[in-house]
Amino acid sequence: MSDSGKKWVKEDPERDGVYWPNENMKERAWLSDPEIYEKARKNPKSFWAEKAKEALDWFKEWDEVEEWNPPYFNWFLGSETNLSYNCLDRHLEDKRNKAAIIWEPEPVEEKERVLTYQDLYREVNKLANAMKNLGIEKGDPVTFWMPLIPETAVAALACQRIGAWHSIVYTAFSPDAVKDRMKDAGSTTLITADGFFRGGKTMKLKEKIDKVLDEVDAENCIVINRAKTDPDMKEGRDYFYDDITENEDAYSEPEPIDAEDTGFLLYTSGTTGKPKGIKHSCGAYAAQAALTTKWVFDLHPQDIFFSTADIGWITGHSYTLYGPLLNGGTTLWYEGSPYFPESDRWWKIIEKYGANVFYTAPTALRALRKEGDEWIEKHDLSTLRILGSVGEPIDPDTWNWYFEKVGEKRCPIVDTYWQTETGGILLTSLPGIGPFIPGVAGPAIPGIQYDVLDATGEPLGPGESGKVVQKHPFGIGMLRGIYEAHDKYVEEYWSEYGLETYFSGDGGRKMDIEVDDQPLIQITGRMDDVLEVAGHRLGTAEIEDAVSELDEIVEVAVVGEPHDVKGEVPAVFAIAKSGNDTEEGRKELEKKIMDKVRERVGPVASPGAIYFVSDVPRTESGKVIRRFLKGLVRDDELGDMTTASNPGCLKELAEKVNYEGPEDIVSFTT
Ligand code: PRX
Repeated sequence: MSDSGKKWVKEDPERDGVYWPNENMKERAWLSDPEIYEKARKNPKSFWAEKAKEALDWFKEWDEVEEWNPPYFNWFLGSETNLSYNCLDRHLEDKRNKAAIIWEPEPVEEKERVLTYQDLYREVNKLANAMKNLGIEKGDPVTFWMPLIPETAVAALACQRIGAWHSIVYTAFSPDAVKDRMKDAGSTTLITADGFFRGGKTMKLKEKIDKVLDEVDAENCIVINRAKTDPDMKEGRDYFYDDITENEDAYSEPEPIDAEDTGFLLYTSGTTGKPKGIKHSCGAYAAQAALTTKWVFDLHPQDIFFSTADIGWITGHSYTLYGPLLNGGTTLWYEGSPYFPESDRWWKIIEKYGANVFYTAPTALRALRKEGDEWIEKHDLSTLRILGSVGEPIDPDTWNWYFEKVGEKRCPIVDTYWQTETGGILLTSLPGIGPFIPGVAGPAIPGIQYDVLDATGEPLGPGESGKVVQKHPFGIGMLRGIYEAHDKYVEEYWSEYGLETYFSGDGGRKMDIEVDDQPLIQITGRMDDVLEVAGHRLGTAEIEDAVSELDEIVEVAVVGEPHDVKGEVPAVFAIAKSGNDTEEGRKELEKKIMDKVRERVGPVASPGAIYFVSDVPRTESGKVIRRFLKGLVRDDELGDMTTASNPGCLKELAEKVNYEGPEDIVSFTT
């Protein structure tokens, strides 16, 4: 019998706004017995060893399950595997003709492409051979500046096949950002496309990246001819994908990779201006991606998984690409904008392919909600079984809308909390176990430990806000360090409470509801200088560094200002040199700031507001007190204003941002 339109959740009869899986879901789910938490807690090592064997094929078994030398830990020591083999070869026997990737191009006149496991396998092998011919070897970093097209999956899997590390940069980051990441990783190969389609426009990539390729002395640039824009190609360096793969052999032996060898690098923003190259392992990362896809999205063989996350982010890696393929599933990729040609493109795609699992970010939901429910109502979404949310806290209002309008009150929402660093989902309620509560991510997945601590490191009770941390045993697929930056690794994650406690940078609180003694945790947001703009992670320092490059700027401070769709946007407080204070001068400078941020970081970081001010609050030693700036743009409390050496400036700032918060700044400063 078809599952179409079936209900998968029921309301808690006693508590409003709490939902549980119903019998349909419990019967269907891979995990429905809460005892799994206890089993995993009793012996995490044997739990993960058993699960990792279930999830992957290993070429060689491990000698030791785990080794912990704080702040480093390793899993499955001495074993060998290969991610490409696990995504492809082992599925050929019974899934050769099954759709591995269904790709929907943005232009409506273009037909979709469906790559079966056999198709993907053939393409990956050919490209792996072509890459070897170009001299790319195991352990080489290969940078991608790639859109969501099937060749991106091919290229990532080809890297995995030969043991090269991909380092994928989001296409809305700028060429300069690509350059910085290539330099940091010592990468001399770039894989890109000539262009792609978004919002009805051709977005050129190759043309824009040429300048950078010269600056980093790139040796190879592989170009996918997606948009047929006829880019310039430099002889001996630039190669069209089709040309180098055409005559290649369709088999390349998958390289046995040590489980603890680097699987890939992914740069993310931290508290300094320089992005961090997060290093992921090959074996445990893959096991975690496979298992969490199966557990959290309850992926079954016939399911179609539609994740809207771009490949440039960790969600794109773990759940748009690897997780579904490791499970032999079908992953649905869409190239372009949800608004093209009209605001129902995602809903149309769900209906067209009969997607069962839909995974997106709250910011997208808020934006689509504004477009009006009629766009959803036009479509049959009855195949959906599970809805997912990721990237930022989802407010209860948006949660309820998602639940009612998209899920028609039939589907659980898994609010999945995790980070680039964790590699996979680590906090969420599981579909077959629940509960699902608006705005609350859930308990830690089985086999790991999260807590919420006060400033002294004491665990807090339900309802008390504190710092969200992980304790041993950590997620098996957690980062294995920052590329060539040990001190930074310690400072960013292991300095708050010592080398045995991982601090996520997030604040949160435990709920007074538990699942098998695991408290549900609500995430309230970043406590450091990291922004979540439309679910995209950016460092305030990166934006500040870019603006400071302008001669006209004396000083700059950036904080996140609340935004009703994007969650937050960068707000720039700039002190300009004198001579730029006419209205026209300001306008010009505003444009320069915008352009500079776009050039150095990318359009994704475009400021939402620019305030020209004569001073910013500072400590006695001259350090900018961001807490005040954050409070001002949020209409929030500012805390002890006397800690500023120059509190007088708060009045001007409050006027500039139209502060309506609880502090009486005027009487304080006069
Ligand atoms: O602040 C948390 C927020 O996103 C941060 C991680 O960003 P990134 O490394 O880019 O990875 C995003 C996708 C996993 C976290 O530190 N975040 C992520 N998921 C949630 C979330 N905040 C609240 N609820 C979530 N479900």
